[in-house]
Order: sequence, then C-alpha cells, then structure tokens
Amino acid sequence: MRVFAVANQKGGVGKTTTTVNTSAPLAAAGRRTLLLDLDPHGSLTSYFGYDPDSVKKSTYHLFQTDAPDPSKMIVQTSVKNLDLMPANSALATLDRQLGVQEGKGLVIVDALAKLKDKYSYVFIDCPPILGVLMVNALAACERLVVPVQAEFLSLKGLERMIRTLNMITQARGHKLPYLIVPTMFDKRTRAARESLTSLRETYPYNIWDEVIPIDTRFRDASKLGYPLTMLNPGARGAKSYRQLLTALLRKTHEDELARAKINSEVA
Ligand SMILES: Nc1ncnc2c1ncn2[C@@H]1O[C@H](COP(=O)(O)OP(=O)(O)OP(=O)(O)O)[C@@H](O)[C@H]1O
Ligand SMILES: [Mg+2]
Repeated sequence: MRVFAVANQKGGVGKTTTTVNTSAPLAAAGRRTLLLDLDPHGSLTSYFGYDPDSVKKSTYHLFQTDAPDPSKMIVQTSVKNLDLMPANSALATLDRQLGVQEGKGLVIVDALAKLKDKYSYVFIDCPPILGVLMVNALAACERLVVPVQAEFLSLKGLERMIRTLNMITQARGHKLPYLIVPTMFDKRTRAARESLTSLRETYPYNIWDEVIPIDTRFRDASKLGYPLTMLNPGARGAKSYRQLLTALLRKTHEDELARAKINSEVA
C-alpha cells in the first residue's frame, strides 16, 4: 500500500482537486485506491455527493474510543475502484477533544494497516491547520504532495509550511519527502511566471518540473462530481494531473531503489 498526503496550510490552492485528479487515473487503471478526507470542511466528501454534516461513518469516527472497523466507514465514488472514507464536520472539534490525550497520532496509521489488503494506493486530503489530523496524515504517508498557487502570498505561506513540516517530521527520524506542485498556473500573467521562477530557485530539489494550468473545466467537473481526468481526459488540466501521477510514482520507485541499494551496501 502506497500512501500519499496532499497538504498546504493555505486554503483554496487546489488540494482537493489534486487529490481527486491524481488518484482517479490510478483507479481507472484498475488499482484499488482509497481517498481519505481529513479536512473538517469535507470538500472531498461533498465532491462525491456526500454531506459532511450528516455522514454517520467517517474519518472522525476513527478517533472515537469505540471506533468500528475502518472498512465499515468506506463509501463508493463516481469512479470504479476509487473509494472514499468521508469526513464529518465534527473533525473540527478533535483538537479540543483529544488535546491532552496521548497516543492519538497513529490512528490513521492503524486504520490503514487494517485496510492494506484492500487497497494499493491511498490519498489523504489534509486539513489546512496543523493539529492532530495533520500529524496523523504525516505519520501515515510516505510522501507529501504540496499544491501551491504561483503567487507571492502563497510562497510566504509555503515557507512556513515547510518549516513546520521539517519540525514535525524530524521526530520520525528521517525527513518526509515532499513534492511541490504549482497549481492554477496562468502563463499569461507575469506575476505567475515570476513566482514560478522564484519557487524553482528556492526549492530546486522538491519541485515538480511541470505545472497544473488554470483550467475552468476543473470547477465544472467538480459540480458534476467527477474527476476531470475521467470526465474530459483530453483537457489540458487532466493531462497535467496524469503527468503528475507518473512523476509521483517514478519518484516513489526511485526512493525504493535507493533504499534497497543503501540496505544492500550496509548489509
Ligand atoms: N487548475 C485549476 N484551474 C482552475 N480552477 C481550479 C484549478 N484547481 C482547482 N480549481 C478550483 O479552485 C477552487 C479551489 O480548489 P480546491 O477546492 O481543490 O482547493 P483546496 O486547497 O482543496 O481548498 P480548501 O482549502 O478550501 O480545501 C475549486 O473551485 C476548484 O474547482
Ligand atoms: Mg480542499
């Protein structure tokens, strides 16, 4: 099971769009794929037609002491092989509820361990705030995907995000690899082009070498509850997300080869 988390503390940068459109081509290729909505706003849940104010079985319920089997929380989406563990808006209360409790940082790790024979890939749509949910997502994933809108203010937010990320993941003993994905890129505007250049200079090793272009069809697809990569595979935005998926899988594979090499040299 390969687990990716999609996160950025800034809102509206394309996290949910990235989660949906990167995972759907995998599901379409026959890979059993699970989406986990950890965002209290539940926009991933709404995307597929479920109401985060009323779902009875959700990622929120995993954190309760009498949590049922995680496979009971899963619902289907509009795409074959793509399942969803929805969010409930009560997720917003978890930090207050669990603030003083120890041992709630591995709830998602444990839940996914129980699902490992059912799914080959998992994508986690993360909340915009750093709290118990984000800590859980970071512990569970092998790589973080960080969508960033190419604009000055987003770059400031990104700096903060990377700092916090490094702080948290140092506790894991090794740094969590991340891939910055420039989103909603409008090549006609100078501000976007300059921000992209600045991003590439600042994060030369962690930035994807392509961009997700601005494409109004993403909004149309979300209204219909379908990934654009399924609804209109020829759309520019859809092609870019397929390229992103390829890059993500390649990087993961390279990491694995590098680890195997190191292990064999050490042995
Ligand atoms: N490449 C794109 N081109 C045009 N519109 C886009 C693109 N990516 C996302 N959008 C639209 O921008 C809005 C915000 O995107 P999305 O919901 O994916 O962001 P988010 O980071 O998950 O937001 P939130 O912080 O609210 O969870 C949505 O209406 C989405 O359809
Ligand atoms: Mg979102």
